[in-house]
This record gives sequence, structure tokens and C-alpha cells, in this order.
Amino acid sequence: MVPLHTACLLLSLAPLLVLGVPPIWTQPEQVHLSYPGAPGSMAVTWTTFNETESKVEYGLLGGRLFEMIAKGGATLFVDSGKEKRKMYIHRVTLTDLKPAATYVYHCGSDEGWSEVFSFTALNDSTSFSPRFALYGDMGNENPQSLARLQKETQLGMYDAILHIGDFAYDMHEDNARIGDEFMRQIQSIAAYVPYMTCPGNHESTYNFSNYRNRFTMPGQTESLWYSWNLGSAHIISLSTEVYFYLDFGQELIFKQYEWLMKDLEEANKPENRAVRPWILTMGHRPMYCSDDDQDDCTQFDSYVRLGRSDTEPPAPGLEDLFYRYGVDVELWAHEHTYERLWPVYGDKVYNGSKEQPYVNPKAPVHIITGSAGCREKTDRFNPNPKEWSAFRSMDYGYTRMQVVNATHLYLEQVSDDQYGKVIDSIWVEKEKHGFSAWF
Ligand SMILES: [Fe+2]
Repeated sequence: MVPLHTACLLLSLAPLLVLGVPPIWTQPEQVHLSYPGAPGSMAVTWTTFNETESKVEYGLLGGRLFEMIAKGGATLFVDSGKEKRKMYIHRVTLTDLKPAATYVYHCGSDEGWSEVFSFTALNDSTSFSPRFALYGDMGNENPQSLARLQKETQLGMYDAILHIGDFAYDMHEDNARIGDEFMRQIQSIAAYVPYMTCPGNHESTYNFSNYRNRFTMPGQTESLWYSWNLGSAHIISLSTEVYFYLDFGQELIFKQYEWLMKDLEEANKPENRAVRPWILTMGHRPMYCSDDDQDDCTQFDSYVRLGRSDTEPPAPGLEDLFYRYGVDVELWAHEHTYERLWPVYGDKVYNGSKEQPYVNPKAPVHIITGSAGCREKTDRFNPNPKEWSAFRSMDYGYTRMQVVNATHLYLEQVSDDQYGKVIDSIWVEKEKHGFSAWF
């Protein structure tokens, strides 16, 4: 016969025997890199579901493996869904990296290490010609371009990725498990090259908390807006969403605007623009578009372009600001298509010349690249686009960009539907940059 105290013990354990004991999650996952902005640095970010230390062990390719160690810290992120799932987001910044040198690393702690990854430290020379992949609107389901991007990244075709908003569809869903799985999906890109982001409308739930917690962009804005330099480019990432979710703080429109103005002022100082003449912006919702989904960019009065008059005080838009400071190229997404615009300002086309529209253009060049693939599929076009619309494609795909030198920038569109075929390309050539280049 079982003694009474043993029977009581077994009874008290019964719920555990039925429910099972939850696993311990100290194994690093969702590893991704980002560039903190300071030459010779790289940030490594990953997730564990139990608390651990945050360490990266690394070394030069061909040298002694893991001979260096960097430590960082973890923040607890509690998703706001019903389950209030907890995860630890680890961040470690590597510094004093040799430009253009390749490093091998793993991340984690003595309770578990990641796979071994490698990256090439960004070349901080202004004569470097960085190669980018650009896209927005890539989801956990139907991420059509993902496999091609993974392979091309691993082939060494890109120095950095720009994901122009709308991730996972949506990161908060299924108590943020969709966010976890999406971050696992992009690991085979993002663990090898800096994965630079801006927020889109699909990140808005719980005040963008999944986005703000999971990424590690430069600056102190929880990745909402920031800028960085690479080669001869100054790259500005911004939140178009501040114009659409006033409940999260109307003041954010003005804060961002002030910051943008200061950043552009600084980038335009003659000594800065001389070495980094290209100013590129990336933001999720475009100023112009010709899709038939009735987004505000199909109207004359895009909030991003012209601001809002229903706020107190009225909120300024970005078109005038970007024009005034001579922004060269504006990268957008949100529309699930690809659209290249002629140089445009104030709804009017300002081509460099009839024969060579992108040679010394008289207004910024806009590209919309939101067709990487997601559960919402691709959008359709309005049959009668305005005159600023130069090329349109409904194929799934993404854009490649190379900032070749101070005068030449190359863009091309890859169709995933057509097995990687380049379906559009332009060279933007500028002898002069800045406001005076428009005249
Ligand atoms: Fe969007």
C-alpha cells in the first residue's frame, strides 16, 4: 500500500504530469545583424525565451575561431497579446572591426550557442560602392522572394538589406509567434548582412511594440527614424506611420520632422555633401502611386507628401522638405507592386532631359518596391496612371541598388515570377547634388 504522504505528493504533481513541464528556452534564435552607424561596428540581435547572458564570440575568417568576445545585454519583451508571451531580446555591439574584413561569429551564452555565421564588416571608405537589396511588404506566409534573397545574400551579392516596412503579416499575431517565425525565416539573410528597417502599417498593433523591440537600428528612437552612411550615400530611414496613427502621439509627426530637418541640414553642410553626395530616404507609404487600392498616394493629398491639416497645429508633409534639401532618391513600399517614377515634384515631372530623364534630374527620383510577397498577394494598377509613372510591374520581386560613386547610382528590378529576370533598370547620374541641382 502507498503511504499517505507519497499519495499526497503524487496528487500534487498530477497537474504537472497532465500538462507537462515547459521546455527551457536558452537556445539563441532569430539572429540578425544591423549597422549601428559608427565605422567598424556591427550589432548582433537575437532572441531566447529564458533569461541568459548575451555574448558574441568572433574572429577573423582564417584566424583563430572565436578569439574575441563582446558582451551586451538583454531586454525583456512582453507581447501584449492574451498569453503575454515573454522573450528576451539580446543585443551586442561589436566594435573596432576591420573595414571589409570577414568575421566568423556565434552568439548566445554558456547555456547555448547559435550556429556559426559570418559577415563582412562594412567598408567605411566614401569610395566604396555598396550593393543593396530593397523591398517592403514581406510576410511569413507567401514570402515569394525570400528564397532568392537568401541565396543571393549567401552568394555575397549584397552589403546591406533595406526592408522598407511591413514584416511578417503581422508580427503580433498568434501571440507574437508569427513574429518569431518571420525572424527565423529572415535569419539566413539577416545573420550575414545588416538588415536595416523602417516601420510600416502592419507593425502598428500595440503601438509598434513588436517592431520597436525586435530590431536594433542606430539612434535612440527604437528604430522608428534614424540615418547612417555607407559609401557615398547618406541614408535616412523614417516612419510614414506617424502621419496615420495619431492615437500613438500626434507629436511624433513634429518630432520626426524636426529631426529630419536637422539631419538634412547636417548632411547638406558642404564638407559632408562633398564626401557623401547621395541622400537617399526610405519610408513605407509612398507620396505617389498608381495602384487601384485607393491608398492616399493615389489621391492628390497624400499625408506623407503634403502633411495633414486636421491636426493642431497642421502637420507638415515631407515633399517640400526633401526637395529643399536635394534628396536624390526616395525609396518606398506599401503598394504590393513595383513602380518607377520619372523625377517628380509637386505632381509634375522634371526629367533631366527628354532623351535622358535620369541624367541630372530636376527633382527627386521615387521607387516603390512592395512586392516581395505576403499573404495579401500583389495589388493591381489603376489603368490610367499620371504622367509621372514611368514603369510598373505586378510581378513579385525586389530591387537591387548600387551606389557606384559620387555621380552614378544604379537600380534594377528583379522579377521572382520570371525566375530572377531583371525587368527594369536605370542609372541615375548627377554631376551636382543638393537643392541647386534642380536648376
Ligand atoms: Fe503597408
